[in-house]
Amino acid sequence: MQPKIQISASILAANPVRLEDEIRRIEVAGVDLIHIDVMDGHFVPNITMGPFIVEGIKRITEVPLDIHLMIEHPEEYISAFANAAGKDDIITFHREAAKKPGEVISLIKNAGLKAGVSLNPDTPVESVEDLLDIADMVLVMSVNPGFAGQKFIPAVLPKIAHLRNLAPEMDIEVDGGITPGTIAQAVQQGANIIVAASAIFKTNDPCGAIRNLKQLAEQAVGKECPGMLIQD
Ligand code: DX5
Ligand code: ZN
Repeated sequence: MQPKIQISASILAANPVRLEDEIRRIEVAGVDLIHIDVMDGHFVPNITMGPFIVEGIKRITEVPLDIHLMIEHPEEYISAFANAAGKDDIITFHREAAKKPGEVISLIKNAGLKAGVSLNPDTPVESVEDLLDIADMVLVMSVNPGFAGQKFIPAVLPKIAHLRNLAPEMDIEVDGGITPGTIAQAVQQGANIIVAASAIFKTNDPCGAIRNLKQLAEQAVGKECPGMLIQD
């Protein structure tokens, strides 16, 4: 059975000097995960947050963390992020950045966290096929990583479907350009963890935006309320 739909709110588009207030707003919506985009200025052309911010967020919320490492040499930073986060939080690294991805997965799992591996839009599913038995999640990027607010790349949809076919019970996350207009396609192909930054934090009502995205995702896989039964 396909795992349950979850919304992961990316704080990349939140107000950085009012992060606690932003987190409180998405907690009220019942957000499933808080997505933290870590960028090093090398793997991607942007610099964002590090273990220090992860540790601060961990102190103020019970919502599980979904840490997305867009960094070179991820193996060198797993222990810092694992110490800042907690058991059962997720650390995801990029397949393109890891020479020995199996070893990075072991580092994350041995620290007691869940391990995800991510694919850029141009990276094929074949590059993670041998990892599907050991990873907890695959993250399919639907934009080229680096910035919030980019346009969804529909060419990644067949990759999501292919992965769902290979791993029917695995968590498959999609990240980039998710809006009320694109979420259904990603979910119908098999994604079950949905990241959104702009579609949540660049609206006047982040709480309502999360509820709306979740409802649209559940409708897309047919979990909406059935219509009235026709009486004889
Ligand atoms: C992009 C990041 C995404 C980003 C998504 O490199 O990995 O998580 O925050 O932003 P939106 O939802 O605005 O495309
Ligand atoms: Zn991300």
